Amino acid sequence: MSKITAAITAIGGYVPETKLTNFDLEKLVDTNDEWITSRTGIKERRILREPGKATSDMAVAAVNELLKKRGISAEEIDLLIVATITGDLVFPSCANIVCDKIGAKNAWGFDLAAACSGFLYALDTGAKFIESGKHKKVVVCGFDKMSAIIDYTDRNTCIIFGDGGGAVLLEPNEEGYGIIDSILKSDGSGREFLHQKAGGSLKPPTHETIDAREHYVYQEGKTVFKYATTNMADVSTQIMERNNLTPDDVDYLLAHQANKRIIDYTAEKMNLAPEKVLMNIEKYGNTTSGTLPLLFWDFEKQFKKGDNLILATFGGGFTWGSIYIKWAYNS
Ligand code: COA
Repeated sequence: MSKITAAITAIGGYVPETKLTNFDLEKLVDTNDEWITSRTGIKERRILREPGKATSDMAVAAVNELLKKRGISAEEIDLLIVATITGDLVFPSCANIVCDKIGAKNAWGFDLAAACSGFLYALDTGAKFIESGKHKKVVVCGFDKMSAIIDYTDRNTCIIFGDGGGAVLLEPNEEGYGIIDSILKSDGSGREFLHQKAGGSLKPPTHETIDAREHYVYQEGKTVFKYATTNMADVSTQIMERNNLTPDDVDYLLAHQANKRIIDYTAEKMNLAPEKVLMNIEKYGNTTSGTLPLLFWDFEKQFKKGDNLILATFGGGFTWGSIYIKWAYNS
């Protein structure tokens, strides 16, 4: 019997309608469009403003789109994973809530937190349940409502992040298409440079933690930038080498959209022509777990069966990694 690989067979996505542009941010903090565009590549981001709406609502929209495209019902889903650091509640998991809202009565599910590498980790995790033969339909979501944990008085962070994400369906493939290889890494000693100080078991919420604005993202941008460039480039070139892929063999790079300069550096180390480097950072910013599935959602139509895709991420933890996919269908 031929080996089973896990192939992406459908994609859904969601971004809120409200746009927060660089010009809007100029009114909130001491910054300007020219600085943000040249330092990050971001022009605008989407913000989920409606009261009572949370990460699960965005994921529900994406999963419903994916089910419709594939022509299957929610009851056929075996497992649903949500990569996120901004679930609706501390517990239960966002995956539990999404399964309830879409009517995935036969699925089990869980959340996976790995900051900006969350979707990459979740994709590889979901793939294992397909490869082992245990499941036939696994949905992997990557979503964050970053506006819930961003301090809009802090110019170091509020210019970067936005809300949104996407979902993919994984199904078994016996023709050699799908997820071929992965390299996943982490180094928790990097946590001091990118984290949320309070709200966890170390520092539960108190009046003091709120007054000290400790429930927001804290980042030392320069240090994160340095580690992100080196590690994302290293892991992406490593996965090419061990799969004997030359730059000509790689059709597209889908890199975490944190900063255009980090993506450009990675592409340069991989020796890729600019047209192979997919980007949508200018319109969504950094959606944390959402960036890779949003790239799939935006660029799905240009992928051809057999294309070689390299995914790459770097994020808080630190966490980072790369996945090699042989694309499974023409849309
Ligand atoms: N608007 C205008 N000026 C700003 C600014 C802003 N929003 N933020 C910082 N500055 C200023 C600084 O005060 C500094 O001024 P100085 O030279 O007078 O001291 C100058 O711009 C340069 O600041 P610096 O922090 O060195 O900028 P940078 O080029 O490193 O860019 C980031 C800052 C955050 C965009 C960049 O470090 C970055 O992208 N880091 C990684 C982010 C990331 O990937 N995070 C998610 C991990 S997945």
